[in-house]
Amino acid sequence: MTAVGIDAVEIRTGRLKLDLPNTFAPAKGEDPGKYTKGLGLNASSFPDSYEDIVTMGANAAHRLMERKGLGPEDIGRIDVATESAFDNSKPVSTYVAGCLEQVYDGNFHHANKGERKFACISGTQSLDDAYNWIKAGRHRGRAALVIATDTALYARDDPGEATQGAGAVAMLITEDPSVVELSTEQGYGSADETDFLKPQQQFPSVDGKRSMQVYLARMREALEDFESVAGDTHPDDYAYIPFHTPFPGMVRKAGLLGFRHMIRDTPVEDEFAEEIGRQPRPEGFDDDEAYEEAVRDYMDALKETEGYRDWYGNTIEPTLSISREVGNWYTGSVHLARASALRHALDNDVDLAGQRLLVGSYGSGAQAEIHAETVVEGWAEEVRAMNVDEQLGARHDLTFEEYESIHDAHNHDKDTDLDPLTSPDGEFAFTGWGRMGERQYEYVE
Ligand code: CAA
Repeated sequence: MTAVGIDAVEIRTGRLKLDLPNTFAPAKGEDPGKYTKGLGLNASSFPDSYEDIVTMGANAAHRLMERKGLGPEDIGRIDVATESAFDNSKPVSTYVAGCLEQVYDGNFHHANKGERKFACISGTQSLDDAYNWIKAGRHRGRAALVIATDTALYARDDPGEATQGAGAVAMLITEDPSVVELSTEQGYGSADETDFLKPQQQFPSVDGKRSMQVYLARMREALEDFESVAGDTHPDDYAYIPFHTPFPGMVRKAGLLGFRHMIRDTPVEDEFAEEIGRQPRPEGFDDDEAYEEAVRDYMDALKETEGYRDWYGNTIEPTLSISREVGNWYTGSVHLARASALRHALDNDVDLAGQRLLVGSYGSGAQAEIHAETVVEGWAEEVRAMNVDEQLGARHDLTFEEYESIHDAHNHDKDTDLDPLTSPDGEFAFTGWGRMGERQYEYVE
């Protein structure tokens, strides 16, 4: 059976940076510790006035195609996953193709293009679509380009404002991939939920605390469904577990829940029992409330154990390093988590080929998907080729006043004209609107 998976990844951050503990927290009269320790964030990425989901996606795709020596004829499919689209009909992938055609001789007229929507999980759904398309033999030897791109902005003074971000992740899906091989082992947890939505509006309506509960409930459901396909999971089965990361503090909770689930009724639970007792079981309690309190106490004790801390430090913590510096990228976020983990392995000379990842994706509304991937030979070279550190270091550091202006500039309800804070340089830039209200782009040398 031919392996199908991710052959290359490119990350494109918005070119502005908001320092959360040093710029945002003081302006809001908040303790910087809420950001660095509570949410686990140091900074958010923002798009400059000439950047948007199209420019970030096209710039990521362009670097990927250049690095892999590809032309339009090598791409049979372009799917954009986003929850920041600005058009209910014309998909973002057509704009991206239009941008790329400015810099390539050929065109993408024979590539199937689309746009995927299911909040943050649609990036992973697009990977699934590409995998299925190749496995079905409909690709004619060509690759699929999956681009997860978002400007994750919240209304000013919404609690979500603390977790904003903007950027794109472009992934090439091929036969005989060089980063990870995808598999048929996947599970879903999906329910009609009202936790985070954008009913014909730019900024989300969010029930923040509830959204966190729904994330955990759907993730647990997906893990159970995954185990029904792949068999029981064990904490040591996976080198890293990248989760959708709206902010690292959310993953801290998801990691603990996942670990508790994985060790239940295993010898690992018995080992921990010597220190903190066995996990509470519902049958040992008269009512749900008492049971839930006992579970909370068990989790509080579990997270303080050396065994859990070691596992978390090795398996989850390395997935969070990019997210801490950029905030939430919605559809791209879980793919940034995978990239963080791979970068950590590269920096620490880990021999990762053949090892497995368990990937936990999530989209509000709500659906979780848990799937397994295997890292393949070639991963280190691909990860070494990413220039994410360089991009993060080159961002313009916003003052609070500049942040307010740039938020207004991206607000569809405000008519502001803001001079860019950086200069486009060898990249696609937004240049204004056309006669039918379409957005227009140019490659700036
Ligand atoms: N020092 C250390 N920690 C501190 C602190 C301090 N000075 N001040 C606060 N904290 C801790 C809090 O205890 C809390 O941690 P715990 O949850 O572990 O207790 C954390 O920092 C956050 O503080 P608050 O709960 O007070 O923060 P908040 O009420 O302002 O909002 C939020 C937090 C609800 C996540 C809000 O940012 C939000 O609405 N975000 C958008 C929704 C979201 O991201 N939901 C996540 C799940 S849904 C999803 O994943 C999809 C998606 O991408 C949106």
